[in-house]
Amino acid sequence: MNNAFSALKISDKVYWVGAIDWGLRNFHGYKTSRGSTYNAFLVLGEKVTLIDTVKPKFYDEMMSRIRSVIDPADIKYIVSNHSEMDHSGAIPQVVRDLNIEKVFASPKGVEALNEHFALGDILETVKTGDKISLGGATLSIIETRMLHWPDSMFSFYEEEGILFSNDAFGMHLATAERYAEELDPWIIRYEAAKYYANILLHLSPIVLNLLNKLPSFNLDIKMIAPDHGPIWRRPNDIQMILDWYREWAEQKPTRKAVVIYDTMWESTAKMAAAVADGLICGGATVELMPLEGTHRSDVVTELLDAGALLVGSPTMNNQIYPTVADVMNYVKGLKPKNLVGASFGSHGWSGEATKHLDAMMKEINIDVLDEGIKHKYVPTKDALMACRELGLLVAKRIVQ
Ligand code: FEO
Repeated sequence: MNNAFSALKISDKVYWVGAIDWGLRNFHGYKTSRGSTYNAFLVLGEKVTLIDTVKPKFYDEMMSRIRSVIDPADIKYIVSNHSEMDHSGAIPQVVRDLNIEKVFASPKGVEALNEHFALGDILETVKTGDKISLGGATLSIIETRMLHWPDSMFSFYEEEGILFSNDAFGMHLATAERYAEELDPWIIRYEAAKYYANILLHLSPIVLNLLNKLPSFNLDIKMIAPDHGPIWRRPNDIQMILDWYREWAEQKPTRKAVVIYDTMWESTAKMAAAVADGLICGGATVELMPLEGTHRSDVVTELLDAGALLVGSPTMNNQIYPTVADVMNYVKGLKPKNLVGASFGSHGWSGEATKHLDAMMKEINIDVLDEGIKHKYVPTKDALMACRELGLLVAKRIVQ
């Protein structure tokens, strides 16, 4: 361990040679409060193979880890399980610097890698059922289209039972530890859920389909090695992450209500507090999230196990208030399921925000219970009681 940035041996022939991005706080609009890792793996077959790479700026870190095990010039193959640049970004430089013979990817992966980097003839297409022989080691391919890109695939190292799962089963979490069992269980549950909510939620039917199909591949999985976060290797942990994925993909509603709002002059804030009081009195649990200090990616994480979404917005220039519109636009893309919803808000003269919010929630297939409650300027006692009633009404729907 005298080298800077050494590899970690994770099995007889496999080394982790990725990078730790301690400082990452924004991953394309997703707040990554605990940083991330880009996991790359070296498989020491006769054809030494690199499975995925890292963001370009971590090229040197990855190469240093590789150098702690072998001469990088010995690498002959790259398997690209996913073309997004946090995993493929260093491929062009690896190809330029080393004598790489082939870069394997799914059909859409070959297309995407060419469209990103024009890698040309070095690319070789692999499909579900194909096996890549590395000499003394075999990788079998399972395409996982749209999980979460069209190109995504798993590669399974048969002899040692390691499933290289790219983004699936991963999380944004920068740590010195590489294995799930070395980490705080609550943190890994939270960060895995946050990752699922922000990256995979809208693809839940495809996730369920894959989980149902997985046994038919007869994989004797000893380890799941994703491209972000810790490796799952204890049998209980492997089962746990698979169970979590099923739970999140099913998104069964609970008695939890998420209330999001922003406010201009505290009027919508007062209405939000009254709505929350009604929910609590009706037996719901409440997550009240003022958007002035709450990130969109945290809202979606809370929705993963919610039964209701209540949205409060002032009307500004006849529209939904900007912070609320931003979060709702993000929620719309991630298509949460099995939610009931309602809106409320204060306004000055025309008060269109609740109408826009109701329409938006219907577009997301949220079951909007009633027309939104809007109130001109500062809410009166009656207006606050109406908000409380709305909370009670929603609680009646989600509390069994
Ligand atoms: Fe970690 Fe879809 O990239």
